[in-house]
Amino acid sequence: MNSQKRLELQKDIGGWIEQYGGGRSAILSVLEELIKKYKKIDGFALQDIAFKLDIHPSEVYGTSTFYSFLDGREERGKHTIRLCKTISCHMKEKERIAKQLENELGIKFGETTKDKNFTLEYCNCLGMCDQGPALLIDDVLIPKVKSHDIPELIDNCMRGELRELYRDTVVSTVAQEGPLLLENYQPGKIVEKALMMRPQDILEEIEEAGLRGRGGAGFPTGFKWRLAMEEKGDLKYVVCNADEGEPGTFKDRYLLHKHFSRVIEGMCVAAYVIGASKGYIYLRGEYSYLKEKLEKTISQWKEQGLLGEKILGKKDFNFDIEVRMGAGAYICGEETALIESMEGNRGEPRNKPPFPVDTGFLGDPTIVNNVETFLWASLICEKGVDFFQQYGTSKSKGTKFFSISGDCNREGIYELPFGITIDKIVELSEGIDTKAVQVGGAAGECIPKKDFHKTIAFEAVPTGGSIILFNKDRDLLDVAENFMEFFVEESCGQCTPCREGSVKILQGVKLLKKGRCSMSHLEKLLELTETIELASKCGLGQLSVKAFKSIVENFKEEVLGRLPEEG
Ligand SMILES: Cc1cc2nc3c(=O)[nH]c(=O)nc-3n(C[C@H](O)[C@H](O)[C@H](O)COP(=O)(O)O)c2cc1C
Ligand code: SF4
Repeated sequence: MNSQKRLELQKDIGGWIEQYGGGRSAILSVLEELIKKYKKIDGFALQDIAFKLDIHPSEVYGTSTFYSFLDGREERGKHTIRLCKTISCHMKEKERIAKQLENELGIKFGETTKDKNFTLEYCNCLGMCDQGPALLIDDVLIPKVKSHDIPELIDNCMRGELRELYRDTVVSTVAQEGPLLLENYQPGKIVEKALMMRPQDILEEIEEAGLRGRGGAGFPTGFKWRLAMEEKGDLKYVVCNADEGEPGTFKDRYLLHKHFSRVIEGMCVAAYVIGASKGYIYLRGEYSYLKEKLEKTISQWKEQGLLGEKILGKKDFNFDIEVRMGAGAYICGEETALIESMEGNRGEPRNKPPFPVDTGFLGDPTIVNNVETFLWASLICEKGVDFFQQYGTSKSKGTKFFSISGDCNREGIYELPFGITIDKIVELSEGIDTKAVQVGGAAGECIPKKDFHKTIAFEAVPTGGSIILFNKDRDLLDVAENFMEFFVEESCGQCTPCREGSVKILQGVKLLKKGRCSMSHLEKLLELTETIELASKCGLGQLSVKAFKSIVENFKEEVLGRLPEEG
């Protein structure tokens, strides 16, 4: 690198660090800018960032290589084309699109064209399961790709017109509306109402309503907020988890696009209750097309005095919201990994305790809630406990947003009450010869037809919203393989059972598929699943084998029929 280029690089890095806040938290954004402009991250860049932030270059390298969108070890093409290979896209002719891309560009996946115009990669779930097969070209999401579209897409890319042409192509089908979506609502009114109440009274309503987090684990929202409220300290944070990486989930994409004001409202209510003055939306990198829109809405709220200093004239209530971007790492949906990521580190889950409610972002009390949880909190504040409690079961109150995809005629977003049976979901979505339903994404359970009478609820079959239908011709070992590949790639690598165990299970599933796994090997694999569940530090490892186990357990004939004959 000549000295002029070196100076330009140093100037760029200095400028970006300043633009993104000046501290270590800026790293992800700086790396993103670097890749955008320079197409790679070399030793000079690592040193320059490290020098400016007073950290070791290996830390910058560690962060960069952790995130699939920020890995700049190899020089990238001018454009990066990523094809989603996770289950719903995998079932929708992903292979044909892959072949067409390879033919058209004259390269294989993982390669860059000689003219350095294109890099071709696979990626994990883009959150477009209802609109697959899907591509992410640079930061533009392309839904429902057909193989004959590929030449034109490449041309548009070369002409620099892709973003403009595909500006509004991500559409969400709302197949079933429920009380939340049907409710008329005027932005700002909920904050206004909340500020006339005491924080303690709002908290009691949230607790009495029995709201449980919609991100998957169903943790009582009121209890989380109470713990944070009781913490001392001037600095507290409210974080909206918009990382939505679970295969088969795309409801937050829709909620952010169409009901973002309600999310802000819920975040403001939470901030008022716990005494926070700063909020963040951690938005997955795959949804960067939403960033501008979210920031615009936040600005409008600020202009109207609904965010910022002394909200609606209340002298001791200041609250501001900022959008922070993820960069292609599923594990960053785990709340402590998310916080690490926001701090500019590798997204590695922390040991718990301490929990984020006392030691969260930058060591201060932090609540992390799912997008949908904030929506519900706002509705409870607006309409009261009874309205919310009309729906659901005794332990899972309210309705839930489901993302339904796979072999059915009506893929889309459904707002349905907890307690609904899987049978009913198959009926509503017009499942086609459904033999199995995957509830809860790759980390969930594969339910056979005989159990379709089971209900969806935290106390029954839980889910953060992902429902994928499989028809009678689907090979469920193919499904298990797809999920295990996902976990092998997405494990953060901190603990051995998760990092190494998932590889062993994947190898076993491949053998099973080929009819080369003996009964004794299958038994060993099942033993290993127990170790992985017990000894993994976070939910990713603990749940990574659930789908495989449920497929072996619930579809014995299909699986055992593939074992070689003994003797
Ligand atoms: C591997 C992994 C990925 C996760 N991804 C998400 C996610 O994308 N969105 C989400 O809200 N919660 C996700 N969670 C759960 C979060 O850790 C956390 O429980 C949640 O954000 C809390 O919000 P809630 O109480 O409103 O559900 C994930 C957990 C794990 C273990
Ligand atoms: S279980 Fe897996 S993802 Fe979670 S901390 Fe351990 S290695 Fe990382």
